[in-house]
Amino acid sequence: MKVLIAGAGNMGKTYARSFLASRFIEANDLFVLERSQGSVSSIQNIPQGNIHPQAGEFISQADILILSVKPQDFAVLGKQIAPYMHQGQLLLSIMAGIKISTIYESTGLTKIVRAMPNLPAQIGMGMTVFTSSADMDRKELFIIQNLINTTGKSLYVEDERKIDAATAISGSGPAYVYYFMEAMIQAGIKMGFSLSQAELLVNQTFMGAVHLHNQSNLTCNEWIERVASKGGTTEAALKVLSENTVNENTEAALFAAFNRARELGN
Ligand SMILES: NC(=O)c1ccc[n+]([C@@H]2O[C@H](COP(=O)([O-])OP(=O)(O)OC[C@H]3O[C@@H](n4cnc5c(N)ncnc54)[C@H](OP(=O)(O)O)[C@@H]3O)[C@@H](O)[C@H]2O)c1
Repeated sequence: MKVLIAGAGNMGKTYARSFLASRFIEANDLFVLERSQGSVSSIQNIPQGNIHPQAGEFISQADILILSVKPQDFAVLGKQIAPYMHQGQLLLSIMAGIKISTIYESTGLTKIVRAMPNLPAQIGMGMTVFTSSADMDRKELFIIQNLINTTGKSLYVEDERKIDAATAISGSGPAYVYYFMEAMIQAGIKMGFSLSQAELLVNQTFMGAVHLHNQSNLTCNEWIERVASKGGTTEAALKVLSENTVNENTEAALFAAFNRARELGN
């Protein structure tokens, strides 16, 4: 199975490395289209002859095309690669906000998967939500899901509009986590810890809390009840969070991301 990655920046390289590390794709079967050649030198093992700065006949050899350029670069890329595409090729797009119908109009391909990964894909801990055009059969979808799963976990959704929702939750999500972590780190420093000490406390707390949650059937609220005893320290903190409507504000922030994703998609 030959795979072409068009756009080998952060995400394109993550995919290339994950496919090779999982041995799902042989290095000889992996092709890269990347205009900034300096960018691809860090992907080891791919034969130099498989790395191309410009579109060409090699595109027609690929069974699967992965589009991982920035959304604003898609119009140009689409024109460059469309002459070499043919029906039967599967296309996986991770471009934020570019709809399946737009990809179809530009490329003429009908078997299209649209996916929204996130940054932890870089270390195999990604969360990807994906959907597909009606033309993809189960076997083809399974192949694409196997590729995606080399970067972490995945969830299939029928409704393409849920990709915008996933963008707001898991796509942008790592930034929200870092935001809360940073606020806790800064509080820790004000209480007298050094930066590295505060980072250790906060990083391990986030990691421990998530692992604990994953290993149980309890909801987040049930875990909160277990940590917060009546009249205790946690309850004092939760009271301030509640008075400042952090819950409602978090929801409003995620809806702002959701609305922005929909706007960009239009
Ligand atoms: N980064 C994330 O966490 C994340 C998460 C979810 C989804 N995504 C999506 O993933 C896509 C890629 O993001 P990224 O962060 O990996 O972007 P990136 O680092 O900018 O990588 C894109 C690469 O594609 C190259 N390129 C653009 N047009 C090209 C063309 N016509 N021919 C050949 N190469 C071309 C760019 O070259 P130049 O450097 O010369 O422009 C760049 O090296 C985006 O659509 C984004 O929405 C990213």
